[in-house]
Amino acid sequence: FDGMTLVELAKRTGEGIGVLQDILINVGESIDSEFHPLSIDIAELIAMEVGASVKRIHVSEGKEILPRPPVVTVMGHVDHGKTSLLDALRQTSVAANEAGGITQHLGAFVVSMQSGASITFLDTPGHAAFSAMRARGAAVTDIVVLVVAADDGVMPQTLEAISHAKAANVPIVVAVNKCDKPAANSERVKLQLASEGLLLEDMGGDIQLVEVSALKKTGLDNLEEALLLQAEVMNLKARVDGPAQAYVVEARLHKGRGPLATAIVKAGTLVCGQHVVVGSEWGRIRAIRDVVGNLAERATPAMPVEIEGLKGLPMAGDDIIVVQSEERARMLSAGRKKKFERDRLLKISNGRAEELEQSE
Ligand code: GTP
Ligand code: MG
Repeated sequence: FDGMTLVELAKRTGEGIGVLQDILINVGESIDSEFHPLSIDIAELIAMEVGASVKRIHVSEGKEILPRPPVVTVMGHVDHGKTSLLDALRQTSVAANEAGGITQHLGAFVVSMQSGASITFLDTPGHAAFSAMRARGAAVTDIVVLVVAADDGVMPQTLEAISHAKAANVPIVVAVNKCDKPAANSERVKLQLASEGLLLEDMGGDIQLVEVSALKKTGLDNLEEALLLQAEVMNLKARVDGPAQAYVVEARLHKGRGPLATAIVKAGTLVCGQHVVVGSEWGRIRAIRDVVGNLAERATPAMPVEIEGLKGLPMAGDDIIVVQSEERARMLSAGRKKKFERDRLLKISNGRAEELEQSE
């Protein structure tokens, strides 16, 4: 996409060069020649204007490729202890403070090991967030921790979680939770998982299973070790320099600070002061905070941060791209809003057409 000329863009979109030139003028851009390479932002804008579907392919512009921490999502059946487990891992007491003990929002935190390694955990409110994000192209999760209560065993949402992980091609590490309970039976859980096609290490496969108790805080070291081992096998790396490619994990409106987005950088570095387009919103990053709330100058891969300075509220799964100026940010945001609206209407009218067909 980057460096594409107007001529190539015309060929790709099937539109006449004149039409594209008019759009270019309308958005206040001028080029010397139709053979002059366009910036990726302008190319996207023009493509959207003519109704072409757009997908940015991120070419690595940086050179520094470094190992990065794994990003882990915890999934499992209702009440099997996802929040308690995350809570135990983070050594605070969020579950206790949550209304009814049900996860209220999607956040993120980092567990740091003595070895210097760290793991980024996403606290999702369920499978919906995971699949919604994946559907929107935001594949931020590297590993799924599948929580199965040792007394309850494999349940419908356990199976759902397995199929989500499989569909996303994300490896699973099983945490058999509530092992402190008298009715705990992890052997039964193993057999159930095996019959669902999970190839556990015990049985010659490569899926690790760890027995834990979120309540008694036992087995947590083993779980963390298992996650780091899994990460090592995956050889997770990211480009650290160059423009950031990041995704929104959660967004909320703060009374004083305006829209806030929890974001995870996939590649590159997000820097305070940069102009960004986030989904169809835009803004200039006024502040970056780490998970503890401390101000940071920049965000590097797999580091969850909260960003401030957006003009509107983005959605989970939105991509964050860095643009050169406020002008560009505004324009791209407006272009994307228009396209999303057009797609939405198209979907509705397609839905109607289908309904009509069915009723005939
Ligand atoms: P939802 O968010 O509603 O899907 O539930 P969840 O999976 O986050 O489960 P949660 O952590 O809220 O725990 C559900 C219940 O199980 C709570 O009453 C916890 O105290 C209890 N529980 C969680 N982990 C353990 C454990 O290791 N042992 C025992 N005995 N109870 C646990
Ligand atoms: Mg929960």
